[in-house]
Amino acid sequence: MKVTKSEFVISAVRPDQYPEDALPEVALAGRSNVGKSSLINRMINRKNLARTSSTPGKTQQLNYYRINDELYFVDFPGYGFAKVSKSLRQAFGNMIETYLMQREPLKLVLQMVDLRHPPSKDDRLMNEWLMHYDLPLCVVGTKADKIPKTRRDKHIKMIKQELGIGPGGLFIPFSSEEGLGRDELWSVISQYTGVGQETPATAESENETERD
Ligand code: GTP
Ligand code: MG
Repeated sequence: MKVTKSEFVISAVRPDQYPEDALPEVALAGRSNVGKSSLINRMINRKNLARTSSTPGKTQQLNYYRINDELYFVDFPGYGFAKVSKSLRQAFGNMIETYLMQREPLKLVLQMVDLRHPPSKDDRLMNEWLMHYDLPLCVVGTKADKIPKTRRDKHIKMIKQELGIGPGGLFIPFSSEEGLGRDELWSVISQYTGVGQETPATAESENETERD
């Protein structure tokens, strides 16, 4: 997928602020600091469109980024950040839950987990919740560059096992630093949103049959 245009659209806190143009949406969920904003930047090859920070918990709204006027990335607030007050965490939780359960244009959830460590309790809860509601899901293992190449397979196996991702489940190891996983992820996104796919050959061949 060639990204020619990407723009920040809105930091939404309420559903009435979500875009109304019905473009397909890809949501990014994961704990603070896991690399959600960095992944967006890597996917669109921009250094800093999605704000990244070394201060976890900074993203506190649903941040909408429109790509090629064809789809949105929706950057969630990170879950499981202890320094945010309990009532604020509750409010984020409600906002995310409402979005995930009611948002019609949502086509795919990227659940991001740190490839270096076993999934946290919050990662497990989020994963169980997404599976329970049968949301289209791809788990992304971030910061792969921080693991020596020879040990990456071991980590991939560990995460898949811990989250019960079988042969039918989607898991992509990713590095925003190195670009690992970018093409594979675009192909999954394309499959779930229909964006960037070739026009089906059937229409062409039907025409050809008519001509014959
Ligand atoms: P919140 O917005 O707080 O929820 O965090 P986030 O999930 O958006 O994380 P963000 O993209 O801001 O990244 C957090 C830190 O991890 C930053 O210092 C990034 O540079 C770093 N980081 C993210 N992805 C990678 C990666 O693939 N490799 C390496 N080495 N560092 C990464
Ligand atoms: Mg962020």
